[in-house]
Amino acid sequence: MSYPDLSNDVVRAVLDSPTPELAMEQTVEMLKVRLPHYTWVGIYLMEGDELVLGPYLGAPSPHTRIPLNRGICGAAAREKMTIIVDDVNADPRYLACSLETRSEIVVPIMRGDTVLGEIDIDSDKTAAFNNDDKVLLQTIARALATRLADK
Ligand code: SME
Repeated sequence: MSYPDLSNDVVRAVLDSPTPELAMEQTVEMLKVRLPHYTWVGIYLMEGDELVLGPYLGAPSPHTRIPLNRGICGAAAREKMTIIVDDVNADPRYLACSLETRSEIVVPIMRGDTVLGEIDIDSDKTAAFNNDDKVLLQTIARALATRLADK
């Protein structure tokens, strides 16, 4: 799978989808289907001072609401930065969803300086995410931000 092709396809789907909800669902599905090492793919949305789980594919997560002072998800929202964790078991911030998970990337969806939500991906492979994943997901996050801003 070529990352630039996937990036173009997801951005087009996001911009063309009739509602922000469908844009998020299509993003999750396209990433999960086309990148098999993306074991769990989900989108959290900011509600007040919590991240609330929206569309996802993968094992059900117990972490459907995450306060900003918890988890890698909370850290990425607080720092307004993408976080890549090569070995989740070595990171004390990590909130476990599945015992199989080895690595994680969390990419904030930003409008200006405001965090609207996050794209969260887990992999069963150690160190599954690199700069290509970061560029891909940040590009998709920018497209999603334009749709979520309508909400
Ligand atoms: N691992 C995340 C929690 C979300 S679940 O993995 C789906 C975290 O540490 O914030």
